[in-house]
Amino acid sequence: MNATDPLVTVDHLSYAYPRRRALFSRAIEPQLAVHDVSFTIGRGEIIALVGESGSGKSTIGRLLLGMLKPAAGQVRFEGQDIHALKGSESRAHRHNYQMVFQDPYSSLNPRMRIGDAVAEALKITGDLPAAERHDVARSLLSRVRLGGDMYDRLPAELSGGQRQRVGIARALAARPKLLVADEALASLDVSIQAQVAQVLQELNEDEGLSMLFITHDLATARKLASRIIVLNKGRIVEAGGTAAVISNPQDSYTRALIDAVPIANPTIARAKQRDRLARLAR
Ligand SMILES: Nc1ncnc2c1ncn2[C@@H]1O[C@H](COP(=O)(O)OP(=O)(O)OP(=O)(O)O)[C@@H](O)[C@H]1O
Ligand SMILES: [Mg+2]
Repeated sequence: MNATDPLVTVDHLSYAYPRRRALFSRAIEPQLAVHDVSFTIGRGEIIALVGESGSGKSTIGRLLLGMLKPAAGQVRFEGQDIHALKGSESRAHRHNYQMVFQDPYSSLNPRMRIGDAVAEALKITGDLPAAERHDVARSLLSRVRLGGDMYDRLPAELSGGQRQRVGIARALAARPKLLVADEALASLDVSIQAQVAQVLQELNEDEGLSMLFITHDLATARKLASRIIVLNKGRIVEAGGTAAVISNPQDSYTRALIDAVPIANPTIARAKQRDRLARLAR
């Protein structure tokens, strides 16, 4: 394992969800949700995984975190096949990555003050003495730009963007090397999205945190990622440097995604994007 090796190497990865077979039907061919996908995530790099709903983005995220076992192919984290890790190795690897979800509210205990929620994450993942946890929780909150007066608030007293930043602060408690953000900004207003994206960018620039940024939204992908991978029906249809992919897309599917970018309202943008993609598919 060299320092110049990628943090994550995804090698010919395929996955099919188990399908229930209808009574009396003949065996159905398993449909691949992920089909022969290969890419790398460098140390300190943000990779955007884009594609329409159902294209396999979250499935790849789950495979990367070891939550699903591939039908074929490998995910290597610092050179180690993560699906071959056992026992203590597997537990040690668990600290290497964290996930940030679309809806942080569902993962926050409504009765726990947010400072305590971050301190609790430190308790689960860390080796810090109890006395230090509150100070470290405070500094994690300030790293996601939530000031000292936020510490004693309850989740219901925060905005969506603030809650999302609490989710990020909790994820940072494990000192991960990789953050998988699955539509982490999708539930936020556009202006708030920009603030949270800024926090992610700072974490990347200041601390070299690597990210797999899963999104429908090419505008944010353009802001954050050095490289973009475009998925369609479980396959990579295009991959390359962000600027190159966006300024000169080679694939008609990617062009359709790009056409949807300038629309500010995400709901309208998504509806328009769906129309375009449906037209393309015909
Ligand atoms: N638990 C599951 N069981 C069966 N099939 C699933 C399951 N989860 C996802 N799929 C199927 O796998 C394919 C890829 O789904 P996935 O959730 O990875 O898409 P996605 O790109 O994350 O979509 P979205 O943007 O809507 O989140 C889809 O066809 C989906 O219907
Ligand atoms: Mg998804």
